[in-house]
Amino acid sequence: MSDLPEHVRLNRALWDRWARDYVEAGERGWARDDPKWGIWGVPDSELGVLPQDVAGKDVIELGCGTAYVSSWVARRGARVVGIDNSEAQLATARRLQREHGLDFPLLHGNAEEVPYPDASFDLAITEYGACLWADPERWVPEAARLLRPGGQLIFLTNSFLLVLCMPPEDDVAATDRLLRPAFGVYRIEWPGDFGVNFYLSHGEWIRLLGRSGFEVEDLIDVRPPEGATTRYPFVTLEWSRDWPCEEVWKARRRA
Ligand SMILES: C[S@@+](CC[C@H](N)C(=O)[O-])C[C@H]1O[C@@H](n2cnc3c(N)ncnc32)[C@H](O)[C@@H]1O
Repeated sequence: MSDLPEHVRLNRALWDRWARDYVEAGERGWARDDPKWGIWGVPDSELGVLPQDVAGKDVIELGCGTAYVSSWVARRGARVVGIDNSEAQLATARRLQREHGLDFPLLHGNAEEVPYPDASFDLAITEYGACLWADPERWVPEAARLLRPGGQLIFLTNSFLLVLCMPPEDDVAATDRLLRPAFGVYRIEWPGDFGVNFYLSHGEWIRLLGRSGFEVEDLIDVRPPEGATTRYPFVTLEWSRDWPCEEVWKARRRA
């Protein structure tokens, strides 16, 4: 524990506290077979996040939380492993595994340093997990190491534009103004006790993915459908219909 980087320690304490507020969302995620993504629950049939065929593939979810994403790929025939920094989140995941009769390995650990050999997986995926809470300079090269040549990395996180428009106060929605410079964001420790998040500009993602051994395949700007709802206060539907508040990156490990 004392060897963990500071942001991993802070985020572990935070998520062990927050886990109880994510139980219900985890239960809903596990209960559905048609994946819905992000804070607006946009159906996979509209967004095309999951690869068409994951049956027989080795998949790792980096920052799996309650592991509902893992449950979706497990039901589609993948061999999946989830890793998460919070034992409390994994406790929910383990209970839901038992309730749904699905069993796959769930590791307590840091997605920046995964105890699996090189080239163990065909797909690494994360929805608001490692891609928001772990250091990109550490977890992206680690994902590249874990993937086989030709393997795919898919992640969904806050859009960079949203971060530029988010006031520092908790519970205050993003504005239509740029509130912070785009250069030099990278790591934000939000005031109060909200842990540490990491945000990269599109140029920074492209360069980091490239030098870690990936080809970028796609960048999907998420637009929620009219009438969509969310429990999160940090952005409104009106804002999210005008500008993307989430983005999905897809990258392929070079051979
Ligand atoms: C918002 S949840 C994402 C999981 C799920 N998709 C969800 O939306 O509930 C964020 C998760 O990332 C995990 N996390 C944060 N930092 C991590 C790290 N360095 N390695 C692995 N997991 C991490 C947290 O413990 C938490 O369970």
